[in-house]
Amino acid sequence: MQKLVVGNLKMNLLTIAERDCYLEAFQRDFEKLSKNSVEIVLCPPFVHLEKFAEKLKMKNVFVGAQNIFWEDRGSYTGEVSSLMVKNVGSKYVILGHSERRKYFAENGEVVNAKLKAALQDNLIPIVCVGESQIERNDGETAKVIVQQIDQRLKDVPISKISEIVFAYEPIWAVGSDVIPTGDNILEVKITIRKMLVEKYGSSLAEKVKILYGGSVNSKNINQVCLDPQMDGVLVGRESLIPNEFLKIVEILNNHIA
Ligand code: 13P
Repeated sequence: MQKLVVGNLKMNLLTIAERDCYLEAFQRDFEKLSKNSVEIVLCPPFVHLEKFAEKLKMKNVFVGAQNIFWEDRGSYTGEVSSLMVKNVGSKYVILGHSERRKYFAENGEVVNAKLKAALQDNLIPIVCVGESQIERNDGETAKVIVQQIDQRLKDVPISKISEIVFAYEPIWAVGSDVIPTGDNILEVKITIRKMLVEKYGSSLAEKVKILYGGSVNSKNINQVCLDPQMDGVLVGRESLIPNEFLKIVEILNNHIA
């Protein structure tokens, strides 16, 4: 399976100058890669999607949104739909990120509605799941992950399952510089895979990509993603520095070689 490296730029790049500077640096540093065999996705704020899609035309590089609303159009002041982000060039969308769960009270039902909208409009959803520190301490990680995935997948057509990407982002590892051990990550990945096999059978379940996210950088990428069973990473802070983000890509490229 081709590895996927996703950059979640969150609420950054405040000016047009800053955005253009980021894009120029990304293009310049991308050209320095000897080759690129992973799929790269950059997810900027909505206002920059169109420009990112216009400028990032390199092979294996795509653009994604950080959120969508579940309706396609209408009187929903302040919202942006999956069709809208798709029509300005997005291929992916991050759904149910822990920051949306925390600050905007997005629960399983909301993420489920957004997931169905994204799939309907042929956007590839990157669905985030992950436990809190308390849940981990209580030994509830597997239970929480299974519950979250169950809620998110409710009534999702079986024909669309293989298009979904899951990102395991333990809440305590996001923005913290603390990461789980490689074994912990693999355990969760196996939990997710096993549950998908039980629900949909192995040939479908094996097509679903499972990423790790939370304090990923070029120094710990070996620990979190080099196991052949990991399908990629979702990167926050380090994706704001193209050179650092592309170091992660380079390490994965070399590993695949
Ligand atoms: P950090 O890499 O900054 O911890 O953020 C992770 C994240 O939230 C990616 O979606």
